[in-house]
Amino acid sequence: MNIIVATGEEITKLVGDQFNEQLDKNPKSVLGMTTGSTPLTLGFFKDWIERSKAGKMDFSEATIINPDELLGLPEGHPETYKVYMEQHFFHGVDVAEERKHIPHSHPDDAEEECRAFEKMLDHVGGVDLQLSGLGGNGHVAFIEPGKELPADTFVVNLEDESRPHDGQFGEGEQVPTQAITVGIGTLLKSRKIVLVAVGEGKADIVKTAFTGPITTEVPASFLQLHPNITVYLDEGSAAKLPENLYTKVSG
Ligand code: GLP
Repeated sequence: MNIIVATGEEITKLVGDQFNEQLDKNPKSVLGMTTGSTPLTLGFFKDWIERSKAGKMDFSEATIINPDELLGLPEGHPETYKVYMEQHFFHGVDVAEERKHIPHSHPDDAEEECRAFEKMLDHVGGVDLQLSGLGGNGHVAFIEPGKELPADTFVVNLEDESRPHDGQFGEGEQVPTQAITVGIGTLLKSRKIVLVAVGEGKADIVKTAFTGPITTEVPASFLQLHPNITVYLDEGSAAKLPENLYTKVSG
């Protein structure tokens, strides 16, 4: 596990460079995305859109996959990750509809949707480069802590702290209590993973996940097993890690 500590600005550049190189190497790459606040705070999508407009980063042949979606929201609901992706990223780049994949938020049969998602992943040949955040409780994608972790895409019950709270839910609207997420096996099959966690609020979970034992109670701890993962942290999130575990870059 390669852990890099840098400023937010540097992380944005390094992550952008890594995705850029991946696309340069293979324009048909399968890229895994993440939602949450980290990509927005650091401006990843903005950076990629700018690179794309400047002709440096070409998404036109890439396949873009989101590993999770809130379950139960009607199509087009502003809190769906699908809408998040449109709003923050897809509006600014040229990705064909048929190469954007995300579980449906309101499938007729959620179990069938999970199987279909796995099939689609097989069909596209798996994820080349997966971007990931880190949930405060140690979740990755939406794989919540538990006694056991499904290997394949599954319907997960969300912990209270993981449910969307300050979002745009109308009166009487149910806040989602479940999501569809890739399984830990699906995630570990990604050929490369880039995980980003910033801010002091993540310092404890970063330490637990990346220096503690591998346990289903901290799903991110399984990423220690991945042969090609880079973790980007800022000073805040790295505060509790021993210094010998990371490389500090400064720009
Ligand atoms: C959400 C997403 C995750 C994301 C996590 C971290 O719940 N399902 O994929 O990694 O939250 O979010 P944040 O970046 O807001 O801390």
